[in-house]
Amino acid sequence: MSSTDGTSTVYVGMSADLIHRGHLNVIKEAAKLGKVTVGVLTDAAIASYKRLPYLDYEQRKEIVEAIKGVDQVVPQETLDYRPNLEKLRPDYVVHGDDWKEGIQRETRRQVIDTLAQWGGELVEVAYTKGISSTQLNKAVREVGTTADIRRARLRRLINAKPVVRILEAHSGLTGLIAENVTVQTDEGLREFDGMWGSSLTDSVARGKPDIEAVDISARMNTINDIFEVTTKPMIFDGDTGGRPEHFTFTVRTLERLGVSAIIVEDKIGLKKNSLFGTGVEQTQDSIQGFCDKIRVGKDAQVTEDFMIIARLESLILKHGMEDCLERAAAYIEAGADGIMIHSREPEGREVFDFCKRYESFERQVPLVAVPSSYDAVYENELSDAGVDVVIYANHLLRSAYPAMVRTAQTILSNGRSYEARDGLMSIGDILTLIPGGK
Ligand code: SPV
Ligand code: MG
Repeated sequence: MSSTDGTSTVYVGMSADLIHRGHLNVIKEAAKLGKVTVGVLTDAAIASYKRLPYLDYEQRKEIVEAIKGVDQVVPQETLDYRPNLEKLRPDYVVHGDDWKEGIQRETRRQVIDTLAQWGGELVEVAYTKGISSTQLNKAVREVGTTADIRRARLRRLINAKPVVRILEAHSGLTGLIAENVTVQTDEGLREFDGMWGSSLTDSVARGKPDIEAVDISARMNTINDIFEVTTKPMIFDGDTGGRPEHFTFTVRTLERLGVSAIIVEDKIGLKKNSLFGTGVEQTQDSIQGFCDKIRVGKDAQVTEDFMIIARLESLILKHGMEDCLERAAAYIEAGADGIMIHSREPEGREVFDFCKRYESFERQVPLVAVPSSYDAVYENELSDAGVDVVIYANHLLRSAYPAMVRTAQTILSNGRSYEARDGLMSIGDILTLIPGGK
């Protein structure tokens, strides 16, 4: 068995995002046993089971290195401790005793089994009462975020997660749904990573068609409403981007607000929604024309973080896969930070075909898919095919509208609202849905 004469080694794994007394206590106890190595979980390791941390890995590493009692910091690339333990073969692992249940339970068992191979020991420190990361997280959300932090978050998510999951929002309330709704799964808490500023739903919510009739100032108002109450990143639907001369200003405005990316589609003239397909007149831009627009946007942007994502309409317009691939290569060459491949083919076959061909591209950028028409396809199938970002582009509004119409009809039919009750939230619930109303 190892000694505590200073030659023993101790391993502590932690996310170290919102450092509190509990973390310091674990490190203090660890330092009593020997030389402490802290494995700071990388963004990817954390994102594999919970929300992306507020601070990136380098920032968290710097903070932990400065804590008394820490000898060295190494990255822990997975939630699974075993790779680092097998490399370092520590005499002890020290952890809070709050991981016996829940998602980390299996991790704990693996740690015990692995340490047993060389006679190492797990030491558990009593959970520090009165403070929790969950509480701190809530407080941080209430404080909000800055444009810089929010903007940078999309690139961090793309780097950290196998697939980034985005939900449409068109108002403060729908923004709150994208921000706060979670479900518990076997792999941990699942939530949306960010929001899609859809032209379709922003237009329809205003009772207008999706033809760029809602001007950019109105669209900015929606973004402001959403950003007022959320912290997650937004990908903005920039339609055609308008005239290149105007696109410059759009990019700068979005960047300043803290939007992470704009998606622009390679169409010109009066824009119609892509899901009409060839059922309406739509004109695709020339490759040259659209590449020029991408370059204008890239020249206009001020920050490193902002992304201009080129949206390919070739499959929507039935111009064929070869046209689509040629354009994708040209747009990447022109500086596009991402490619959105759009299709309304109901099985998603076209998208998978595109992904297959894209694999052999020498220069690749993140891929975005919008499975509105091919909705039976799972996110992980898209992710396995190489898609980095999946956007659920219109689902909140599509669910809200039928519910509202049903309620209106029920009231009309009955001459009172009692019969509509079952489909409604209670008055008490709506009064307290948004805190601070009392
Ligand atoms: C939107 O949500 O407005 C989009 C996606 O652009 S689509 O409706 O599929 O064109
Ligand atoms: Mg749109």
